[in-house]
Parts: sequence; C-alpha cells; structure tokens
Amino acid sequence: MKLFKIIKRLLRLLFSLAALAALALVYMRYIEPNWIEVSHLTVGADGLEGRYKIAAFGDVHIGMGKDEKELEKLVELINGEEPDGVFFLGDLFDDYSKYGGDAETCIKILSGIEADDKIAVRGNHDVGGGAQWIYPELISSCGFTLLENDRVVLKNGITVHGCAESLYFTPDIGAPGDGFDILLAHEPDVADGVTGVELQLSGHSHGGQIYIPFLLDRILPKGAEKYYKGLYEKPDGGLVYVNRGYGMSLAPLRLFSRPEITVVTVEGK
Ligand SMILES: [Fe+2]
Repeated sequence: MKLFKIIKRLLRLLFSLAALAALALVYMRYIEPNWIEVSHLTVGADGLEGRYKIAAFGDVHIGMGKDEKELEKLVELINGEEPDGVFFLGDLFDDYSKYGGDAETCIKILSGIEADDKIAVRGNHDVGGGAQWIYPELISSCGFTLLENDRVVLKNGITVHGCAESLYFTPDIGAPGDGFDILLAHEPDVADGVTGVELQLSGHSHGGQIYIPFLLDRILPKGAEKYYKGLYEKPDGGLVYVNRGYGMSLAPLRLFSRPEITVVTVEGK
C-alpha cells in the first residue's frame, strides 16, 4: 500500500514536470519569438542641426522560424516609426542555400521599408551558407547600400561607417571624422579596436537568444562575448548598442531575450 502511494506521487511529479516543460517549450517557440520589443534610445550629437531618427534591425535569419508573415510585421513596425534612416546589422537568411521558401517574396517585402537612407552591413550568415556571393545583390534588391570597410556621409553631416564581417574578414573603418560618426558592425566586440566613433550599432548575439545568466560563457557567440545586449559606454565615451535581433539561429526558440527593433534618435545639441 505504501509503495503504491510512493509510485503515485512519483508519477504525479513526473507528469507535472513534463507539463511544465511542454509549456516552456510553447512559450519559447510561439510566444517570445513573436513578442517584439521596439526599444528607444536618444543620443546627443554636438553640432548636429535638428534630429535624425534611426531604426536599426538585424539577425532576421529568414528560414529559421521567420518567414513572409513575420517579415511583413517587421516592415510594418519599422515604417510605423517613420525613421529617417534604416540600418540593417546583418544576417538576412539563416542559410540561403537551404532556404526552401519563397526568397523573392521575402526580398520584395523587405524592399517595402521606407526611409531616406537605407544602409546595411554583412553578418556571418551573409558569408556562410552560400550567401557570400549573392548577399550584395540580395540586400541591394531590398534598396540598401552595403558598406564593407566603407562609409557614407549623410545629408546632415553624420558619417555612417560599415565594417567588414569580422569573423571572416578584417574590419578596417579608417579614421573617423570630426563630426558624429556611427559605426555599423555585425559583431559588437569590434568596438574594442575602434576609437573616435560616437555610436556603434551591432547585433550577432541575439541577446543570448536563450538567456540563462550562469551559462552565458557557453551561449554567447565569438564576436559578442563582451558586448552582448543593450547599451554600453566605452572608456573613450563612445556608445555601443547591441540589438537582440529579430530572428533566431540554431533553433527557432527564444527565452528571456525578446526580438528587438532599436529606434535611436540622434539629437543635435
Ligand atoms: Fe545572427
């Protein structure tokens, strides 16, 4: 009789644990990946006239749980912010060579992003997975100017630098100017090799994607081990903002690391 009670309790415990695990999995697969945060940040810029509104997004990883419907949502959220500039931080397709969906429709949807300036850099997934040669064409079909160790000066005098993907190539942005310099770099840890940039925008880490603080050493990818989410200030006063990305890699799951679009207002002072 006693043994029967113990077995009954054990079975009840196992059932509760299995139900909890199933609930957690549903949350990680269907709730958090679609619970998008549009975060806002204001940065002062000496000598800038007026303001410049940026919407930064990255790590879309099309094909890994993000397809046409989610892309439409992304474009709607970005356009809803009415940004002056939209900056893409890299990782367009998760693995372009294996993507079984309608890539052309995805490109068409993303080309609906509206802004005066649309600028992009390359992420590691825009090199691997057969993307190395076709990424420049894909991203320019979406209306973006691709910067790889190059820069553009915007109408208001802000310089936007884009560095080459740092896990495969050597980033080199040259000397920043005297005005307000923004660096777009897929891997945030590039920050430690750069001085004189007022604001760096990066992605790559997905904020950990499945964010378990005591496992961070194992979770964070190379290139995002020091700077991995949110805002940092470097000793030279430069700011680094790491966006958590829109999509996912390795598995279509997120935990305590909601997808993010970052809206940065650069305000003249
Ligand atoms: Fe990524």
